[in-house]
Amino acid sequence: MKTPLVMAMILAGTAALAHGGVQNADVMNRMMGMSELAKQMKVIGTMAKGATPFDAEAANAALARMAEEASYIPALFETEADDPKSEALPLIWQDFGTFTTRAAELERLTRDLSGTVATQADLRPVMQQVGKACSACHGTFRE
Ligand code: HEC
Repeated sequence: MKTPLVMAMILAGTAALAHGGVQNADVMNRMMGMSELAKQMKVIGTMAKGATPFDAEAANAALARMAEEASYIPALFETEADDPKSEALPLIWQDFGTFTTRAAELERLTRDLSGTVATQADLRPVMQQVGKACSACHGTFRE
């Protein structure tokens, strides 16, 4: 059981680095929200790969947690805050309606998927659908 622990430490280190040195508190908060989404994706991803044992309850809980976190996105981005480390594009605040629609789509998708995972084979399509919902926003609104 050594490898998963080492992996978790490396992943945690990477997450800390991604927003290390951020000065603006609003930017820091929204990055933490995004990191939480990434953390829950990792729970499902490592299970999909068989790196952690399959646990339907944990996978469904991760999806429910993502739906909750996605519901915070509009409030986390409401203030047009900037920071040299930020990858947020100004388009977010020029087209906040589309931005919040992307957040709502992620929220609905993860809420709908939560409770549907029954076997390990369910994880890959779940990852693909959720990943698409992340990219749908990142592709337009992130550097
Ligand atoms: C509604 C739009 C939107 C959705 C949906 C979205 N993101 Fe993001 N994400 C952003 C924006 C904008 C940034 C850049 C924030 C910044 O740098 O100020 C970002 C940044 C990130 C970061 C980098 C955080 C950091 O510490 O710098 C990660 C990781 C991330 N998103 C993961 C995800 C994952 C995983 C999903 C899907 C489960 C997701 N995001 C869904 C808009 C979105």
